[in-house]
Amino acid sequence: PLESKIAPSLLACDLSDMAGEAARVMDAGADALHIDVMDGHFVPNLSWGPPVIKKLRQRSDAFFDVHLMVSDPLAYVGPMADAGADGFTFHVEAATDPCDVVDAVRAASRPMVVGVALRPDTPVEALDALWRDGAFLPDLVLVMTVPPGFGGQAFMADQMPKVEALRRRFPTMDIQVDGGLNLATVEVAARAGANCIVAGSAVFKSDRPAEVISALRDGVET
Ligand code: DX5
Ligand code: ZN
Repeated sequence: PLESKIAPSLLACDLSDMAGEAARVMDAGADALHIDVMDGHFVPNLSWGPPVIKKLRQRSDAFFDVHLMVSDPLAYVGPMADAGADGFTFHVEAATDPCDVVDAVRAASRPMVVGVALRPDTPVEALDALWRDGAFLPDLVLVMTVPPGFGGQAFMADQMPKVEALRRRFPTMDIQVDGGLNLATVEVAARAGANCIVAGSAVFKSDRPAEVISALRDGVET
C-alpha cells in the first residue's frame, strides 16, 4: 500500500498565530503543512506570498507543501525556493508551457517536489503536455475536489473518476486531493486511489486535531 500523507491546510488556521498553529498540527501527527498561495487573479481570493512563507520557515522545520493558485507559476519558482518551500504544486491551467515550470523547479536553488494541479473543470488529458522522452515529469498530481480559491467548500465526488484514471496510469505516484476532505469523504478519495490528503477545516476547526489526523490516515490506509 502507498504511504499516506496528511497535510493540514493553513488557510483554515488562526492566521494571527500561523507559527503556533503550524506547530499544533505537526505535533498532532501531520506529515506536512499545506500552504495555499493565491494571487487574486488565478482565483478570486488573495492569501500570502513568499515573505510570509520565509518567516514561517524560521519557526518551523515541517515539510512545506506549497499550492500555487497563481497565474504565473514560473515567476514564483525562485521566490518559493528562496522562501523555503519543499513542494511546489502549480496549476496546469496557468502555465504557458508546464514543462518549463517543471524544468525551472528542478533547476532551483532548493530541491522541491514538483506537483501539478487540476481544477475540477480540467480533464486529466491536460497532463499529456507533461511527458518527455516517455517519462512523466512531475512527482505528484493534485486533483482539486472543490473549485480553488476558498476553504470550507463541499467535496466533489464527481472528481473521483480522474483520481481512478490517474491511479491506473501511475500505480506508485503520489496523488493528492484537496477540498472538502473530512472523515467521511476521505474514504471515497482513498478508494479512488488518493494517498495524499489535504484538509483545512476538518483539522483546524476541531479541538482534537490529533484524532482527526489519525482518522484521516486510517481512512487512507484501510
Ligand atoms: C482551496 C485550497 C484548499 C483549502 C481546503 O482553494 O486549495 O487547500 O484550504 O480547505 P478545506 O479542507 O476546508 O476544504
Ligand atoms: Zn490547496
